[in-house]
Amino acid sequence: MKTAILGAAWLIMCSNTAFAANGVRAPFGALSDGTKIEAVTLTNGAGMSARIMTLGATLQSLAVPDKAGHKDDVVLGYDTAQEYLTRPNYFGASVGRYANRIAKGKFSLDGKGYTLVTNDGPNSLHGGPKGFDKRLWKIDAVTSGPDAKAVFSYVSADGEEGFPGDLKVTATYSLNEQNELKLEYKATTSKPTVLNLTNHSYFNLSGNDARDVMGNMVTLHAAKFTPVDATLIPTGERRAVAGSPFDFRTPHRVGDRIRDARDQQIRYGRGYDHNFIVDGAAGSLRPAAVVNDPVSGRTMEMSVSAPGIQFYTGNFMDGTFFGKAQHSYRQGDAICLEPGVFPDAPNHADFPTARLNLGQAYVNTMVYKFSAK
Ligand code: GLA
Repeated sequence: MKTAILGAAWLIMCSNTAFAANGVRAPFGALSDGTKIEAVTLTNGAGMSARIMTLGATLQSLAVPDKAGHKDDVVLGYDTAQEYLTRPNYFGASVGRYANRIAKGKFSLDGKGYTLVTNDGPNSLHGGPKGFDKRLWKIDAVTSGPDAKAVFSYVSADGEEGFPGDLKVTATYSLNEQNELKLEYKATTSKPTVLNLTNHSYFNLSGNDARDVMGNMVTLHAAKFTPVDATLIPTGERRAVAGSPFDFRTPHRVGDRIRDARDQQIRYGRGYDHNFIVDGAAGSLRPAAVVNDPVSGRTMEMSVSAPGIQFYTGNFMDGTFFGKAQHSYRQGDAICLEPGVFPDAPNHADFPTARLNLGQAYVNTMVYKFSAK
């Protein structure tokens, strides 16, 4: 009773206080089979709000002020939950069990071979045909306060999509008054497995996809990246970015070198679709990327705990489908920055491990900080 009264008092305080971030849970329509979807909206007093829905624990919208204070949505996606299943592109999704590719859908663990469904040419991509992005997550908690927070969870059964171990996963989104959106994936397993959870937001800082991202300035704190073969599987090499279109150690326009077909890696990726090795020691948060849209003045600074970050420029979007507000999405309309272990790590003994053991706590943390000037 006492807790209920205190809780109510806190709620009233929050709704009356302009500078306390709050979290609100509400229905977000239904899928075509009638399944109800919910969403949590986190709002702070500094002009930002983030809406996350239970389907895929997906960041469905992210409103951020520009230099004039106008709030616009800076992530691609759909207006309704069903469209995320009908025309899947991993927009804003929580991706698992294995974000990015596993070569030929095969890996082995402790001498036992595992075969996954191949859903990207010869390879397995983003956890298979029914990965975590297409699953219903539960809302475990929604809190208001100095940081507004929403905790989503999903339990994946042993063998789901071919992966071993019962896996319990949480995705915690929190928003503070410094315009930092923090996202933390945690997991535990009932037996050894491989795991790579990430968020697959498509950022377009112009707001409401007003312009493509070719004029965005990008910095990547990465001296090396992992080159790929024609099917986008890493060759195993860690190549220095110096002197190549992959050198973003100082800010560069995305469009400046994206068509430099002299570089075979640009040809293979149809532009940028590569894992960069984030400088510094993995395991603790460190700066990974900065994206700036000079027109709106919006900047996103990203810190990650993961060893790598996939930089992808929406190269597979071809204008044949449309997203929010019936707006068609084309190549180069967004920047994805997906922190995780390296693609195909289960088949590369010298890459940072994707293995998760019984009793071990998996954590992947990413912070997106927004500002405008
Ligand atoms: C990742 C991959 C891309 C593409 C997108 C989803 O970013 O690296 O090749 O598959 O996901 O379309």
